[in-house]
Amino acid sequence: MSSSEDQINQRVPQHVAIIMDGNGRWAKAQGFSRLEGHKQGAKRLRDVIHWARDAGIKQVSLYAFSTENWKRPKLEIQGLMALMATMLPLEVPKMMEEGARLLTLGDTSKLPWLARKALQRAVKATQDNTSVDVILCLNYGGQQEIIEGIQNFCANFETASEKEASLAALTPELFAAYLGREQILPVDLLIRTGGEKRISNFHLWDAAYAELYFTDTNWPAYSESDLKAALDDYARRERRFGKTSEQVQGVENE
Ligand code: IPE
Ligand code: IPE
Ligand code: MG
Repeated sequence: MSSSEDQINQRVPQHVAIIMDGNGRWAKAQGFSRLEGHKQGAKRLRDVIHWARDAGIKQVSLYAFSTENWKRPKLEIQGLMALMATMLPLEVPKMMEEGARLLTLGDTSKLPWLARKALQRAVKATQDNTSVDVILCLNYGGQQEIIEGIQNFCANFETASEKEASLAALTPELFAAYLGREQILPVDLLIRTGGEKRISNFHLWDAAYAELYFTDTNWPAYSESDLKAALDDYARRERRFGKTSEQVQGVENE
């Protein structure tokens, strides 16, 4: 392996977040129903867990249903929820095989009972796995989550002066605890499939310094080579986190 290839291998993102978009457009192009698009999209879940683990990615978050997706036609929402209730249990044996631990982000208490149950069971069954974390984002909204963090912060203090002192001393690192980020790493690479170039209320907090990658491939057609292309692109980028290029490369003193 050449030294440049070696360098690329060392630059694997720890946390990859994916906006799995384009199910509907993919289905329309094939003459299928939108729900069939979602079904084929759900099948990619299994693949992406495998590819991510193979690539050495530690966490992969998957945007499956946003807080805004409740605005969709009732039948589509019902279909999506039913799909989760039926498909998730089938994925558990595979997740066990992969050593994948399932986590969730978003207010899952608002999901229909069957979907919620399937989710709880899958989370429990996979809780001791350590190869890769799969973070399913359901009824997830980045803005709502930040508001919840503020509410958690405010509920934490008994006196106004205690609250005031903590507010004055608040840092992003401290605030992360109120967002329940003990187990979630910052997003290194944010991928959106389906051609749109927006983040649609995903990971507003965690993606503060994420590298963004957009691809025209619709989610049901997403392949390992698509993921590899994103990872190669990521490996070639210089992440500066506010510093100069010279500082990052160690040419200049800190
Ligand atoms: C993403 O695909 C899946 C969900 C949002 C649930 P879409 O359903 O948004 O597909 P398009 O954007 O209409 O093609
Ligand atoms: C974002 O896709 C949400 C998910 C992939 C779950 P949308 O299709 O809902 O996003 P917009 O509405 O086009 O921004
Ligand atoms: Mg869409």
